Amino acid sequence: MIKSAVVIFLLVSCQVLLGAVHKTPVRPNIILRSEWGAARASSAQNLAKDPAPFVVIHHSDSDSCTTRAICQARVRNFQNYHINNKGWGDIGYNFLVGEDGNVYEGRGWGKQGAHSKSYNSKSIGICMIGNFNHHNPNAAAVKAVQDLIEYGVSLGKIEENYTLLGHRQTTQTSCPGDSLYQLIQTWPHWSSN
Ligand SMILES: *[C@@H]1O[C@H](CO)[C@@H](O)[C@H](O)[C@H]1NC(C)=O
Repeated sequence: MIKSAVVIFLLVSCQVLLGAVHKTPVRPNIILRSEWGAARASSAQNLAKDPAPFVVIHHSDSDSCTTRAICQARVRNFQNYHINNKGWGDIGYNFLVGEDGNVYEGRGWGKQGAHSKSYNSKSIGICMIGNFNHHNPNAAAVKAVQDLIEYGVSLGKIEENYTLLGHRQTTQTSCPGDSLYQLIQTWPHWSSN
């Protein structure tokens, strides 16, 4: 009787400990395409490597936005520009993040984007809406992007051992801005190569 009580106590303690180690990631608030009024797009190819081994951070090099109404208007403009001016099938990014603290679904998980030459088939490309050459995104946007990455890992859509890169590490560009590029170097999984 006492023995089985001890066993049960140990089992429960182990589960509590495991729960503490594998903390459940916070699901960020993701505004779906249907919710932001995405235009019809040609469906993207699947990633060649899924879960994605890379996450690539961009900025939109535009004004930032702090309300859902303005953020989703910007997201619609980017999609329109990418389809009609760039001739891409859809918005280039997998996800976008606004300073309203929301995540906006772009091509989504498991899809090849058009955002980082030579990394499109093996990365999730996330665009932080704003120009981050001289200042960082606000705390709400930083939390949203970090939650999104952890959430992607928990879904099995991003490799647990993923590498985080800034767009400028994949091609000749100033993106994601000097300030944001400094910031992401302090985030988990950033790598200099
Ligand atoms: C990451 O994990 C995957 C699968 O578990 C493995 O194939 C890959 O080599 C690892 N990559 C690195 C950079 O360690």
